[in-house]
Amino acid sequence: MKVAIASDHGGINIRKEIMQLMEELNVEYVDLGCECSDSVDYPDYAIPVAEKVAGGEVDKGILICGTGIGMSIAANKVKGVRCALVHDTFSARATREHNDTNVLAMGERVIGPGLARDIAKIWLTTDFEGGRHENRVNKIKAYEK
Ligand code: RB5
Repeated sequence: MKVAIASDHGGINIRKEIMQLMEELNVEYVDLGCECSDSVDYPDYAIPVAEKVAGGEVDKGILICGTGIGMSIAANKVKGVRCALVHDTFSARATREHNDTNVLAMGERVIGPGLARDIAKIWLTTDFEGGRHENRVNKIKAYEK
C-alpha cells in the first residue's frame, strides 16, 4: 500500500505523528508538505493528494488541517475520492468497512496525537466489507459519472 499525506500549518504535528506510524507499519508514503509554519491554504495540499489517489498513483491519502473540514471538503471535489473526516475510532473502522473511503481527514485542533494515531492505524488496516455496502458506493460512483 502507498499513501500520500499532507497538512496545512494547522496539522503539522499530527502529520509527523502519522508519518512515524507509517514507518512503524512499513507503509510506503509520499509527504506532500507543507514545509512551513507560515499560514498556507488547505486546498493547495488537499487537491494534490486527492488527485494522486484518484489517478491511482497512490492507494490512499491522509490530510490534516486545524479542523479537518477544509481538507475534507476540498478532497471530496476530486472525482473518485471518498474522503471521511474522522475524530473517533468507531468511525475510522466503519468508514473503511462501509464507505471504502480512500482519503482520511483529521483536525489537529480537535484531537490529540494519540487518538489521531489510533484512528489512522485502524483506517489504514481495515478492509472494505463489500456486499450491500458496495452497491451503495457504486451509486456514488454512478452519480459522479
Ligand atoms: C487554518 O487557520 C484553518 O482554517 C485550517 O487549518 C482548517 O481548519 C480549515 O478547514
